[in-house]
Amino acid sequence: MSKTLFITGASTGIGEATARAAVDAGWNVGLFARSEDKLKALADDLGDNAKALPGDATDFKSQEDALGALTDTFGSVDAAFANAGTGLSAAGTEKGDPEEWEMMVKLNILGLLWTTKAAMPHLKSSNGHLLMTGSAAGRRHIAGSVYGASKWFVHGYGGNIADEMREWGGRCTVIAPGMVDTPFFDEAKPDKLKPEDVARSAIFALEADPRAAIQEVFLMPTK
Ligand SMILES: NC(=O)c1ccc[n+]([C@@H]2O[C@H](COP(=O)([O-])OP(=O)(O)OC[C@H]3O[C@@H](n4cnc5c(N)ncnc54)[C@H](OP(=O)(O)O)[C@@H]3O)[C@@H](O)[C@H]2O)c1
Repeated sequence: MSKTLFITGASTGIGEATARAAVDAGWNVGLFARSEDKLKALADDLGDNAKALPGDATDFKSQEDALGALTDTFGSVDAAFANAGTGLSAAGTEKGDPEEWEMMVKLNILGLLWTTKAAMPHLKSSNGHLLMTGSAAGRRHIAGSVYGASKWFVHGYGGNIADEMREWGGRCTVIAPGMVDTPFFDEAKPDKLKPEDVARSAIFALEADPRAAIQEVFLMPTK
């Protein structure tokens, strides 16, 4: 029977590309994001192996309900990808906007915690796998970057939860890309990574032999 992957931030960019790659690799996918129209179009394109689950990642119950609906549809949730995230329009601390920071922290930190907490009972019963989107910005210091600090949280928490999941045979992988050409940026980044490159890393980690826990994939654009 096919395994099932829940993806937050599945409407565009890395999440969409991972959904496509996962279905190609034989997985069912649950597509979670706010843009219902985009999720429905993607689910139609992917066919019977995909389910659109519109919702807001900053709302714990919304994610919990989506995971329940996904289990009802496909029987189990074997992996969850905490990928939804956002950047900031104004960089740095002095120029940064506190309201925008609050929104970003709610999504990049709390939203990822909600995915983990809501998915954990499902993953425990499937001996499953948690993926998170970290960043190159969460592996090195970038002067004044508040966004980068939110990704340091992902790397710190991802390592901690990997150790906790290991106790019952589960795995956690943080995917850490450098710049990727997605709607995250207002302008195209044609010479950087493509979302498909990141999706391939996610599938690599998911499909590793159960004895091998890929704890981090760090990928940078060659240029
Ligand atoms: N692009 C890069 O260079 C890069 C590099 C390293 C890490 N990352 C990380 O990669 C992840 C994906 O970003 P991306 O580059 O693929 O950008 P993207 O195309 O802008 O994707 C962001 C996704 O998050 C969803 N989202 C935003 N707010 C949400 C909310 N409140 N609830 C649910 N979903 C929400 C968006 O869908 P809706 O608007 O429909 O909700 C969209 O599907 C993020 O965590 C980002 O920090 C990106």
